[in-house]
Amino acid sequence: MQDASPNSPPTSAGREKWASRLGFVMAAAGSAVGLGNVWRFPWLAGENGGGLFLLIYLVMVVTLGASVLLAEIVIGRAAQKDPVGAFRRLGGGAWPLVGYLGITAAFLILSFYGVVAGWTLAFAFRQASGLFAAVEPSKAFADLLGSTSEPLAWAFAFLVMTACVVFGGIRNGIERANLVLMPLLFLLLIVLAIRAATLPGGLDGLRFFFAPDFSRVDSGTFTAALGQAFFSLSIGLGAMITYGSYLQPHQSLGRSALQIAALDTLAAVLAGCIVFPAVFFADLNPASGPGLAFVTLPTVFAEMPAGRLFGVVFFVLLTIAALTSAISLLEPVVAFLVDEHGFRRHRATLLVTVGAFLLGIPSSLSLGPVPALSAFGLSFMDLLDFVTASLMLPIGGLAIALFVGWKIAPRALAEVADAAGRPPLLARLWLFVLRFVAPVAILWILLTGLTG
Ligand code: PHE
Repeated sequence: MQDASPNSPPTSAGREKWASRLGFVMAAAGSAVGLGNVWRFPWLAGENGGGLFLLIYLVMVVTLGASVLLAEIVIGRAAQKDPVGAFRRLGGGAWPLVGYLGITAAFLILSFYGVVAGWTLAFAFRQASGLFAAVEPSKAFADLLGSTSEPLAWAFAFLVMTACVVFGGIRNGIERANLVLMPLLFLLLIVLAIRAATLPGGLDGLRFFFAPDFSRVDSGTFTAALGQAFFSLSIGLGAMITYGSYLQPHQSLGRSALQIAALDTLAAVLAGCIVFPAVFFADLNPASGPGLAFVTLPTVFAEMPAGRLFGVVFFVLLTIAALTSAISLLEPVVAFLVDEHGFRRHRATLLVTVGAFLLGIPSSLSLGPVPALSAFGLSFMDLLDFVTASLMLPIGGLAIALFVGWKIAPRALAEVADAAGRPPLLARLWLFVLRFVAPVAILWILLTGLTG
């Protein structure tokens, strides 16, 4: 099927398409659900006082997040192109710059995402070896980061896996795999949440996670929550534009966007329900930074029957969740090189993967052997994380909101309309958020965050 609009020539013939709406929702949810939910979200919630962070985060997901997510999918399906090509086709002028910003962010994120996914892989093997019966998880984690070559080897292995999937196209591999693996991951998250919540001290953990403490609010909390909402929903850099470009016409986009956002939020809340009870059980500090999930999860496993088995299965599933997200970071950059610069898919994949690995090296070293790799009081990796998630993604999201809200609004309304051509009730509200609420809120948060 082709997209027959007067101002966009139907050159999408032969473009790969998702097999079904469910397949698209699962692949997009596979992109959204990843280390952002299990690793990044609890780490930031812990550093920002728990409950209040959760509340601000939820408000942002429901308002800005879901709106920008839908905007991206709309752009992708309307344009049938990679992020740069999509802005060129639908907007022209300087708009492709938004695509370039996104591609850059995707590449930068992929570089440190691979490092963290490497830790996940390493911990799957550590769980299997029964290491945590003898060694404290916090020590095992510090040992891993302290090594020079080991985390890099794991990161390399993970990136090779990612490249292999992108090599072959995504429909048969990822769409199918997600249909089975995502439900399995959720099932395990639920089992673990129940086990963690019933540990001694578990209720204190849940209280920390759910009860807002208003004395702790500052502008940094808003910046972190906004960045996390964008990071976790995979928005602001064109991943969802790319996935949307593989969609058939006439599928309800609004419903899909809401389902993706709901699944992603559920995964984050479940992860919090595992990590924080475990933090209080093990008498750790919730504000202990990027290692939080890696230190607390093995603690929960150690306290449950067949914990070693659960531990292995969980870290394997988390690796897969990370894989389905990493694919969606690699794919937009590859699609850009293929669509805009005529690269062969294989060469583009190889080039971007090697580049991401090389840039991952200073990230990995900055947390262990070479602490001098830091600036502004942040390690190289934390700095990359902050610049991408808290600055580049919100700026990208702002531009996407303005683009859909003002530049292509009639086209966007047509994209979300039902079969009879009527836009759904919420469409007006959606446009209002894109035109006014999102730009003002994002600008305000960026400015207060930078000056505060
Ligand atoms: N959303 C993914 C996660 O939570 C990370 C990601 C960000 C993937 C941006 C694609 C684009 O782990």
